[in-house]
Amino acid sequence: MASKCPISNINGEDKAIRTVPSAGGFGPYNLYRLMKNGNPEFTRLSEELNSNVFRMNVIQNEIVLPDHESIKVCYDPSKVKKSDNFCLVRFNTTILKGITPGVFMDGVEHDTRKAALMKYLEYVMSNTSVNEITCLIENEFKNMPVYKDLSLEEANEIDFELDIKRAVTNVLTKIIFGEVISIDIINKFAYATLEFKYNFEFSRAEQRRVADMIFKLVEGTPYLLKLDEIVKDFKIEREIMVAEIIFNTFINGTRTSAISALLKFLELSDGDKQRIKSESENFLSATDRNSESLASLKTIHSFFLEVCRLVTPVPYPCRILKEDMVITSTSGNYEVKKGELMCGKVLLAQRDPELFDDPYEVSLDRDINKVEANLYTFGGKYLDEATATNFNCPGIGLGSTMIKVFTMFFSRCDVVPVSDLKHTCTNIQRVVGSDVPLKVKTFSYQNK
Ligand code: HEM
Repeated sequence: MASKCPISNINGEDKAIRTVPSAGGFGPYNLYRLMKNGNPEFTRLSEELNSNVFRMNVIQNEIVLPDHESIKVCYDPSKVKKSDNFCLVRFNTTILKGITPGVFMDGVEHDTRKAALMKYLEYVMSNTSVNEITCLIENEFKNMPVYKDLSLEEANEIDFELDIKRAVTNVLTKIIFGEVISIDIINKFAYATLEFKYNFEFSRAEQRRVADMIFKLVEGTPYLLKLDEIVKDFKIEREIMVAEIIFNTFINGTRTSAISALLKFLELSDGDKQRIKSESENFLSATDRNSESLASLKTIHSFFLEVCRLVTPVPYPCRILKEDMVITSTSGNYEVKKGELMCGKVLLAQRDPELFDDPYEVSLDRDINKVEANLYTFGGKYLDEATATNFNCPGIGLGSTMIKVFTMFFSRCDVVPVSDLKHTCTNIQRVVGSDVPLKVKTFSYQNK
């Protein structure tokens, strides 16, 4: 059953400064409970402690921030800095020739790399119009595998989510490198990106071989041949720049968000599906498909915002507090200390019942301004632009265009799911919008 968290206004107008309560418990056991129960475990603890904000030991000590007010601190670079601490895992630099991606860094190094990457993205986006992105996506749908009335056993054997990831990857890599890079290569990279913190040098040789192969492969792609010219104003080593482009193209939220868009589309009523379909057909059949006409699609935008509200590729941002301060939350104000680890719970904050009715449901009729003002799916406040010095995703323009256009093509497909579509956020390791992977007995694109 969907959890109803977070709790709200326990203290009402109380302005007193509270001490952050502790959930207690033994770290490994808390971790086990989180793996078993997922996000509802945070809600249960909030209710037990009568406080949204609380301390929890999950191998490391963290302060849990699960409501729409307290989570804000995680996205404020003046108050917090990034942490590369992910409980028992860390980024495996071997797969990137020993380079740590800028997203895990702070200060000048982060800012310089991000600024250069933004320049590169600006260049590639100026080479690809919304119309071209739409044509690339259409081509992928025309070439997608067709499944017709599969048995449950057959459906379960097929990795349907991989079909969607392949389509997204083909489009994304074509836009960013000027050439398609196979999903198989990206998967080899992705599987090796996180490693157990106490790794004893297993499989390093193979990872070095994969890293060399990937760097060599992308170095020959059309846009990377122009890289030095594009980022000539930045003092940044070429290998680091190539590593940034590889990491951010290979690991970003577009693949998972596209699958979530289909899952959330399947949850809609027939009437709502039809609303999306009509708007899609108006756009897809037009001769002047451009960013303005895309931006004018109100239903598609509402739907896109719902996908973003309900799912994010980074559901548990962890940051280190730069100074002692008082944080506000919907259950009161709390004193917190410099150096403490602040962990936002985005899936709960974006379902805060204080803000949204039926927060677990997809609704095309929510107040758009309210959703936009409380959305952190792109790594920062949705309404703030990405800059070199904040945490916001610079791929938001490309990512949103792709998710919106994928949605339009999904609305043209005949899809019969056989897996359970429910999304209770109990599976803490899954960053896609259902508890279990999407399986279909029928899938076909209707406008070949
Ligand atoms: C729907 C698609 C996307 C979603 C939902 C998304 C989401 C995010 C999120 C949540 C972060 C913050 C990461 C963190 O705090 O650890 C982030 C950062 C970032 N994203 Fe995206 N992203 C998407 C697409 C893209 C694309 C297409 C690119 C470019 C290839 C991209 C490039 C980046 C970069 C460079 C950062 C690091 C920002 C920084 O260091 O300050 N993203 N994105």
